Amino acid sequence: MELTTPYSREELVSRGLVPERLPRHVAIIMDGNGRWAKEKGWMRIRGHEEGVTSVRETTEECARLGLDQLTLYAFSSENWRRPEMEVKLLMKLLARYVVEERPTLMRNNVRLTTIGETATLPDEARQPLLESVDLCRNNTGLTLCLALNYGGRQEIVGAVKRLARDAAAGRLDPETVDEALLARSLYQPDMPPLDLLIRTAGEYRVSNFLLWQISYAEIWTTPVLWPEFRIPHLYEGLKAYAQRRRRFGGLGE
Ligand code: FPP
Repeated sequence: MELTTPYSREELVSRGLVPERLPRHVAIIMDGNGRWAKEKGWMRIRGHEEGVTSVRETTEECARLGLDQLTLYAFSSENWRRPEMEVKLLMKLLARYVVEERPTLMRNNVRLTTIGETATLPDEARQPLLESVDLCRNNTGLTLCLALNYGGRQEIVGAVKRLARDAAAGRLDPETVDEALLARSLYQPDMPPLDLLIRTAGEYRVSNFLLWQISYAEIWTTPVLWPEFRIPHLYEGLKAYAQRRRRFGGLGE
């Protein structure tokens, strides 16, 4: 299988991007699947199915752009509240996605990882997911991180609990707890700093996503519904990011 190589500097420039102002880590709240399907008079699940094409195209492009990580909010800890049939179909879709996308992930040298309480996902999705994570573990390009059964508050509570347990067992001096240690106790200890959060479908909410990681991220929203999100929309977000002056609480870079 031939490997897809990342774009050269010249190719990035020819696409109107600023190589030194590309984010390293992009996260996306993929919203609007239901609305997209409803507009067409279809079942909501058709929107999720179509959303897989957007996931594939965005992932491949982020890999070609040479980004370090793309984190996608695929299923929140609150999504269990949806009708049973929709949850069931979403799990089926996830199971199918992680199997069918294996050649694409391998060709693009993508490492697959997850954040969230994946241990409690139904077996039919969890097993193929673990197999795909394993298959892609030695890939060295983009990290595709799927947030599954994920909640930002729940993630922080879990980290605090681990640290408290270590302190109670005498393995940790509470005085040594700092931001770096807490960050290493989150779901993905080696997660690169989040640079850009994209939300589709014109909403301006964070929806319990990456609450710790979002501290200094730039946020960009688009009215485009996720099933219609394509490479030109991603570029719009990347170009908007390149225009931002990140100050991290100081007076400028
Ligand atoms: C939000 O749209 C989207 C979700 C809850 C699920 C996201 C899932 C996918 C994009 C497809 C599967 C992805 C993978 C990685 C297998 P919504 O249903 O809340 O849209 P609405 O606000 O218009 O109702």
